[in-house]
Amino acid sequence: MSRVLKLKTPKVFRPLLEPARYKGAFGGRGSGKSYFFAECAVEYCLLNPSSRIVCIREVQKSLKESVKRLIEDKIKYYDLTSCFEIQSDCIKTPGGGIILFQGMQDHSADSIKSLEGFRVAYVEEAQTLTERSLEMLRPTMRSGSEIWFSWNPRNATDPVDLFLRGETPHPRSIVVKANYCDNPFLPEELEEERAHDEKTNPVRYPHIWRGEYEPQAIGAIWSREVLHRNRRDEIPPLKRVLIGVDPPITSNPHSDEAGIIVGGLGEDDRGYIIGDYSKQGTPKEWASAAVAAYDLHEADGIVIEVNQGGDMVKHTIHSIRPNIRVIEVRASKGKHVRAEPISALYELNKISHIGTYPKLEGQMVLTTSAGYEGDGSPDRLDALVWLLTELFPRIIRKSVPRNATPARANSNYKPLRHHR
Ligand SMILES: Nc1ncnc2c1ncn2[C@@H]1O[C@H](COP(=O)(O)OP(=O)(O)OP(=O)(O)O)[C@@H](O)[C@H]1O
Ligand SMILES: [Mg+2]
Repeated sequence: MSRVLKLKTPKVFRPLLEPARYKGAFGGRGSGKSYFFAECAVEYCLLNPSSRIVCIREVQKSLKESVKRLIEDKIKYYDLTSCFEIQSDCIKTPGGGIILFQGMQDHSADSIKSLEGFRVAYVEEAQTLTERSLEMLRPTMRSGSEIWFSWNPRNATDPVDLFLRGETPHPRSIVVKANYCDNPFLPEELEEERAHDEKTNPVRYPHIWRGEYEPQAIGAIWSREVLHRNRRDEIPPLKRVLIGVDPPITSNPHSDEAGIIVGGLGEDDRGYIIGDYSKQGTPKEWASAAVAAYDLHEADGIVIEVNQGGDMVKHTIHSIRPNIRVIEVRASKGKHVRAEPISALYELNKISHIGTYPKLEGQMVLTTSAGYEGDGSPDRLDALVWLLTELFPRIIRKSVPRNATPARANSNYKPLRHHR
């Protein structure tokens, strides 16, 4: 006996119901992208018995991160448990097919061949897909198969964006943009979150909720691309760890945050940013946080800038923990001039962030050679600059000529590229 499965597809996704080699849905949070493709996967298995589907992420440390749960929910919701068999690491589908869940990082050029003959690859959070992964995946999926992508765009230069939204998108692709306003099922809690972000986080709101690229100032001396390219998951062996502190000048409920950033010099002589403990609070509060970070990371010292009430800062830290090693950085030049040699280290791929630091990185990509274009002051970035200045004294001295770069805002000028 056949049954009719009624799926309610939001209007925005309807173009994707047509056959195409590549299908993409990009946009902000809560637009229904994952739900749509999860339903497509279930539907595909029913219409094409014995087909094999792989759900892919760039990194998948555990199945919890995958869309397995979502697909299971769909199977249960549509009362299809008699057609599918949910197993701990995969889902058996009608006619002897299967849905697998894999991370591209776990694949090699050889192992990817195990996916030949799969009918669909669904790539979730495809903004993190590397060029290598995309290159490996595409020729693996053979005739008649489809590759689906859902993602929230970060940069126009991310491989999935270049491939599906670049100057020459693949001719056999259908791509739609979907946002929360296109999701007729948007739950109330998500709408509340969105409204809150709209009020409180205007800088990142367009990225998070409207699927715009991440904010970045024109002429910024750091690019998101470089940050993402060098990002790592694990802290390597470090030979020196420092806490950079950029304290607020005043201490009242509206004063700036204290930037508290942890970084280390690896045995490979690269720099690693491993923690951000920045906080607003009284001197006692931020100094305690800095000392706690020092203990937690078994740091060798706390780096502060002496120009801005250095003695007071040192005293505050010593009042929490006498004798802790405080290293003073003397900042004689303008703030952004000190930031430029550090941005050059990033350009040279010498610095990796372990994990993601959205607020710190937000400040970095809003800094141009003319100064900071965000609101308030970039305390986290300043703390980072202090500690990397201390970790890379030689490189910095070498790379900045006395008459450093002219300040030119709003251009694509990347000053330190010339000083390598
Ligand atoms: N077809 C649907 N039926 C019922 N609810 C839905 C459907 N599509 C979306 N929703 C609701 O909308 C919410 C957001 O959808 P979904 O998680 O698919 O969005 P997304 O675009 O993948 O967002 P994110 O970027 O946060 O992963 C879901 O948690 C669910 O509550
Ligand atoms: Mg999703």
